[in-house]
Amino acid sequence: MNRTLTIALSKGRIFRETLPLLAQAGIEPADDPDTSRKLILDTSDENVKLVILRAADVPTYVQYGAADLGVAGKDVLMEHGGDGLYEPLDLGIACCRMMVAGPAGGQEPGKDRLRIATKYVRTTRSFYAEKREQVEIIKLYGSMELAPLVGLADRIVDLVDTGNTLKANGLAPLEHIADISSRLVVNKASMKMKHDRVKSFINKIAEARS
Ligand code: ATP
Ligand code: PRP
Repeated sequence: MNRTLTIALSKGRIFRETLPLLAQAGIEPADDPDTSRKLILDTSDENVKLVILRAADVPTYVQYGAADLGVAGKDVLMEHGGDGLYEPLDLGIACCRMMVAGPAGGQEPGKDRLRIATKYVRTTRSFYAEKREQVEIIKLYGSMELAPLVGLADRIVDLVDTGNTLKANGLAPLEHIADISSRLVVNKASMKMKHDRVKSFINKIAEARS
């Protein structure tokens, strides 16, 4: 039987903030993904491997069982939809808010359909559908704050923490969509097939975060 647990993480903020939780569960990575080019990292536990992915790919790897577990932002999970995943723990890390933002002190654009630039197309669509507001959504992959400045969009949907990025670009938060934090996600088949190992890992992480 395959005893290895594979955990999917993204570099940067999520890796950094997950590290202390893993350490308290007795798991220390053998390499630092910010300096190593390796994508599969051994750890101090010979039965635990880490795989390093783009943040938005974490739910996909876990959904298809290429990783048993993963850590992903709620923003990413809302876009993914959650098929094939359990979400047993809110890790309380990488906390921010998903907001609609627009030009600070700006007038209502006064048109039938606002143009909204975002990388969160699915979440934005359902937010406006619930408000019964017709909008045009423009998909971007980053630097959303630029879009209203150059006339690409009237509004953006993006993550806000300190608000510094909005402020530095003459934008202001307008509407709150969701509170965001990172979640532990588990492949549904792994939860059955590797139940004891997965459950014990979840319990250790739950203890570490409380
Ligand atoms: P990638 O570069 O891998 O495509 P990314 O740029 O979204 O993805 P990060 O910036 O590391 O990756 O963000 C990872 C997660 O951290 C996001 O999905 C979100 O949940 C959270 N996050 C993003 N920005 C902030 C922020 N400014 N403050 C707190 N949490 C944030
Ligand atoms: C995120 C997000 C905003 C910014 C908000 O970007 O897309 O641009 O953080 O954070 P703030 O409200 O504290 O300014 P990203 O993760 O790319 O940038 P970061 O690493 O600088 O936070």
